[in-house]
Amino acid sequence: MCGIVGYVGFPNQKDVKEILLSGLEKLEYRGYDSAGIAIYNNGVKVFKDKGRVANLRKIVDNYIPSTLGIGHTRWATHGVPNSINSHPHQSSSGRFTLVHNGVIENEVELRNKYLQDYEFISDTDTEVVVALIETFVEAEEPVDVAIRHVMGLIEGSYALTIIDDQSPATLYAAKSKSPLLIGLGDGFNMVGSDAMSIINYTNQFIELHDEEFIVLTPEDVCIYSILGVKIDRPYYTETLDAADTEKGIYPFYMLKEIDEQPYAIRRIVAKYFTDTGFNINPNIVETLKNTDRIYIVAAGTSMNAGFVGKQLFETISNIPTEVHIASEFVYNTPIISSNPLFIFLSQSGETADSRAVLVKIKSLGYKSLTITNVKSSTLSREADYTLLLHAGVEIAVASTKAYTSQIAVMAILASDQANLDPIGLKKDLALIANVIESITDNKLMYKELADEYLTKRNCFYIGRHIDYYVAIEAALKLKEISYIQTEGFAAGELKHGTIALIEEDTPVIAVISQENINLNTRSNIKEVKSRGAKVIVISLKSISSAKDQIVIDDVNPILSPLVTIVPTQLLAYYAALGRGLDIDKPRNLAKSVTVE
Ligand code: M6R
Repeated sequence: MCGIVGYVGFPNQKDVKEILLSGLEKLEYRGYDSAGIAIYNNGVKVFKDKGRVANLRKIVDNYIPSTLGIGHTRWATHGVPNSINSHPHQSSSGRFTLVHNGVIENEVELRNKYLQDYEFISDTDTEVVVALIETFVEAEEPVDVAIRHVMGLIEGSYALTIIDDQSPATLYAAKSKSPLLIGLGDGFNMVGSDAMSIINYTNQFIELHDEEFIVLTPEDVCIYSILGVKIDRPYYTETLDAADTEKGIYPFYMLKEIDEQPYAIRRIVAKYFTDTGFNINPNIVETLKNTDRIYIVAAGTSMNAGFVGKQLFETISNIPTEVHIASEFVYNTPIISSNPLFIFLSQSGETADSRAVLVKIKSLGYKSLTITNVKSSTLSREADYTLLLHAGVEIAVASTKAYTSQIAVMAILASDQANLDPIGLKKDLALIANVIESITDNKLMYKELADEYLTKRNCFYIGRHIDYYVAIEAALKLKEISYIQTEGFAAGELKHGTIALIEEDTPVIAVISQENINLNTRSNIKEVKSRGAKVIVISLKSISSAKDQIVIDDVNPILSPLVTIVPTQLLAYYAALGRGLDIDKPRNLAKSVTVE
């Protein structure tokens, strides 16, 4: 949930300060409580403060010639966001400077055992790591041995990047559970939490695995196991286009990403269909055929997409499917069927809660499939199979195009299992892409609705059947970026308690896409209206009523979440915009949740 970037190069190669700051700007979606950099220039200079990278830019010296530096954006776990708790952290002598992403779970034990006389400055768990490295080096351990020694003591997660001011041409790094990548350059090398932070300088990457220790110099990269055994790993070329990571004409990434949904669906069609059939890895098809139950494991929006996936797998391909909250599964594991397939849904492929489940189910010998937007992500690498979303980089914290892409990919998988006509589904998805375009072309209407209806402290989304799952996701979207307290309810459930919260002008937004529940949901609308609610109805044309405010062209009803969600994304966006909020970086949140 923090972002790391590090650089080491030959003299006069590049502006290290600018590389770090622009890399951190790309990583800000991972955490934006604080930011800091350390640059070697006849000794290490540290600049750090709470707040955004833009703030950091103001306090960094104008010109610092350098060949070595590390940077960090923080999402606070230990200690409030302030200048002292911001990274980088330094050892008491100042020799070692370090940034960290992750959580040191046994920091108290480590302090008590090794660092009783050490004077800590910050409230962070990270400072324990830099203190330990210095302590072991002072006890005559070579630096590489000391770092691996510390790696062996840490319980928890870490991506670390370390400078030793006695080795100005060396950058040290280490990783376990938290993401870190190597970027290879000509006369320089880098590390970053993701490819975006480095892609402006190189497209050649080496992935890192857990408990690996890395030594980078301007012309060399060495990867070692925690025991010091050298590891050879080839590089791969990343196809990410640097332009994909820019906002372009959009004020916020979220709006850009909402607008990109038709392209994402068309790309999925291009990737997962041949001219006449489906184009899915036959091993996945075979595995699914032999599966007696699917377990979808995910968090947040991905979990909400998982509920729609359950509907698709059960309705289309008749495979019993359960959806599980990743953070609950490990510690409250359900009874597992005899031949399960675990599907991990994750935009980032890095969500620590989901990864903990993957580790567990692998140890139990079960098969896994990750459906993700990030090719070389941890969940992708570690699962038996991967299906990619091909949605393009998603940067806004509020997930939009990943949600619709996850549903589209699961619809294809389910239809393939059921031997449905691929041409029919292809046409359905092509129509859906066009219908989404017709929704996003009409932005002014959503702005006006948001300005008129979403003015209260709270709001309810209601729906039945598959619309209930859309209601849950719609509520998450609205609450996370506008801070309006929003809940998604099964429309029929409201009267069993929650209707007590409805008062004059409480906004209630109803989603209606299925004919068999149309009248029931409309009865529930009457119930809330007669208690003062101000209602917006989102419906499909063939079952719409004259007064419905948002009427969407008909699509295949089982795929309706792909279109009914889009108005709710726009309503959330405009509600947040109207409140003057930072839509892409809502308070307290980070895009990639890499701590459990
Ligand atoms: O990268 P993942 O899809 O695994 O992330 C899961 C959730 O953290 C994520 O969907 C989160 O709920 C978003 N902020 C929702 O917009």
